[in-house]
Order: sequence, then structure tokens, then C-alpha cells
Amino acid sequence: MDKMALSKKVMRVQPSATLAMAAKTKAMLAKGADVINLSLGEPDFTTPTAIESAAIDAIRSGKTSFYTPAGGLPELKQAIAQRVAADTGVKYQAKQIIATTGAKFALYLIFQVILNAGDEVLLPAPFWVSYAEQVKLAGGRPLLVHPTGENGKVTVADLEMVRTPQTQALVINSPQNPTGAIYTASELTALGHWAASHDILLIADEIYSHLVYNGNQFTSVIQLDQTIRDNTLLVSGLSKTYAMTGWRLGYVLGNAGIIQAMTTVASHATGNPTAVSQYAAIAALNGDQSAAEAMRLSFEQRLNYLFPKIQSLSGFELPTKPQGAFYLFPNVKRAVVRCGYTTTEDFVTDLLTQAYVAVVPGRAFGQPDYIRISYAASETQLAEAYQRMAEFLRTKGNPD
Ligand SMILES: Cc1ncc(COP(=O)(O)O)c(C=O)c1O
Repeated sequence: MDKMALSKKVMRVQPSATLAMAAKTKAMLAKGADVINLSLGEPDFTTPTAIESAAIDAIRSGKTSFYTPAGGLPELKQAIAQRVAADTGVKYQAKQIIATTGAKFALYLIFQVILNAGDEVLLPAPFWVSYAEQVKLAGGRPLLVHPTGENGKVTVADLEMVRTPQTQALVINSPQNPTGAIYTASELTALGHWAASHDILLIADEIYSHLVYNGNQFTSVIQLDQTIRDNTLLVSGLSKTYAMTGWRLGYVLGNAGIIQAMTTVASHATGNPTAVSQYAAIAALNGDQSAAEAMRLSFEQRLNYLFPKIQSLSGFELPTKPQGAFYLFPNVKRAVVRCGYTTTEDFVTDLLTQAYVAVVPGRAFGQPDYIRISYAASETQLAEAYQRMAEFLRTKGNPD
């Protein structure tokens, strides 16, 4: 298609850097290259058998052949409400819940329904790649916030520096992709009261809330107090906790008016989330959680294994151990320079094409001097990736 025919809005949007890296890697793998893929934002496990069986049963019993309500089956909304109540003690009604085609589409819908042209959304860096592009697609302006708080977390003072009268929303992602940092209850309370007092909607992306390691504590924004809860949209989904990325099932809980508007937009976009995925999600949320817990434990072991190894790499800086999610986000500026590169992107490209290790450059997350390494891979693969990276740094960093 002629470029002239594309809308200005679409021309401003960047393709997903994580998906682009994944595509490059998959193309190399398809040609038979022995690439270790640490670029992905998804568990390397397959969906637990009980969930798959529930989905197969739903298909066989003929339940999945039909449209469902656009915002999800009533049984699914009930299962979401029950799981959230079990995890947080907070109760939501069906009219405050929407099930969506992944948390990604949930966030897309939120920005579509809350933003007018020129409205701003505060995005503390580093941030998940899709937020900024989704804000732009909704006609809004992403406002990058540079955190000065402990462990790369944003403070009220950081937000206040950037806020303008056009600021409509703030996204807080905890546990965070890509740093793995978790906001404490008191940090969230300060941010939550600040947002409520300025009429700034708090969007709490808690998709990694079940992937918390080594005894660290997670507090959900909705557990703080009523003022903050009333001003919060809680975004989550099944992708990460239950190894269900391919099923595309996310959800949002919060203000009934916003949920209704999101449902209306979804009804004209995807229609309902895929019926079979909804039945799988009901089984996942209502069922025994031990398979999810086993996967969490695996991620914890992998984190404990890989973190000191990445810390030890020459020119990599990673002072704080991640508390959740499944990524490491080291600053690699010194390694990039020492190896003779001018950009992190060039470094990452050669790491892929010469050392056969795929990671993602930090620019897409708002921090160009960093790379994101996913540890959603087996310990054998992580060990091999570490060896390859260490060798790459040795060869490139000491060319003679
Ligand atoms: C922080 C964050 N939010 C949301 C999503 C979207 O997840 P999904 O659309 O698979 O539910 C992801 C996936 O990578 C993520 O990392």
C-alpha cells in the first residue's frame, strides 16, 4: 500500500520492539541457527493440563461455537471476581469487570475510552513497550517520567515535575516489566493519593502479581483504601501466571462507567474474547493453583541462578535483584562502549547474529543504555546463554 494512504496516527506508531526481536530470532531459528531466545515476554511452559482439558471439554460439549457477551461470560466475570477477592480481599460486581482479548487489548481499550486528543498519560520509565504506542493510537500523548526513587521506582516528586493540566492518567506496573521491581504499600499509597487528588486516573497493571520471588511482598493498589480504589483501574490477565499467552485472556476491574464504555468499544472491535479461552480461563481461575505455583517456583530458581551471573558480566550493571516478573534489566553502557559499539541496538544485533543470544534493546522501554533479558528459559539454556555472552564480551572487549 502507498505510504500516503496511511493515517498520521498510524505513522507515528512504532512496531513492538519485543515482537520485532522475537520475529528476527524466529527467522534465524527457522533457518536452523542455534539461537537461545531470551527476548520473549512469555513463560516457556505449556498451559497446565487441567486448563487444557477444561477447554477441550468446552469445545466437545458445543459451548464454544457461539458469540458470548462482549465483556465476557457471566461465569468468567464471577471467576475473576472470586480470584481477585481471594488474592486481595476486595469484592467487585459483574458490572465493574470486563474480560478482554489479552491485557494488551484491555489497556488499548482503556486509552481509547479515557483520552481526548492531546490528553497526557504519565509513563514512568522504564515501561512496557506498548503503553506509549497505545496512548498515541488513542490520540493522546505519552509523558515519560524519570524515576528517582529507590530501585528505579517513581516518586510523587518525579510525577509532579511532569504533570500538566492535560494529564489524565498514570500507569503503575508492579511487579514491573522490565525491572522486576515491586512498589511497597506505602509507595503506592503516596502515588495513589497524589493521583486521586489531581483527578488523574491510576491504571494499575498487575499482570505479574503472582510472579513474586524470594519472600518479597506484593500489595495490590486496590488493597490500599477506598479513595485510591475508586480512582483505579486494575489490569491483569492469565498470560503470565498460567502460561496462557496464546489464549489471549485479560481483564480489568474498576469504575462501572469506564467498564461499560470499554465493553461498547470492544463490541465493535474484537467482539467477545474467544469463547474457548474464556472457558479455559474459568478453569484456571477457579481451579487448583498448584501448577501456577510450580511455575512460579521455577522462575524463582532461574532468577536466583542467573542474577549473579549477569551481575558478573564485564560492563554490565545490575545493582538490585528483581523481586518479580521474569526479566533482568542491566545497564550495559560500559560493555557497549568497550566492545566498540555506538548504540545498544548494534550491540544487541551482534549478540544475536554472532553469539546467538537474543535479548531486547532498552530503548523501547524508554532506557536506551539497558537491555532486557528474559529468564523464561530452562536453566541449561540460561547457563549456555551466559557462557556465550561472557565469551562475546571477552572477544569484543579485548580484540587483541
Ligand atoms: C507489563 C505488561 N502488561 C501487559 C501485558 C500484556 O499481556 P497479555 O496481552 O498477554 O495479557 C504484558 C505482556 O508482555 C506485560 O508485560
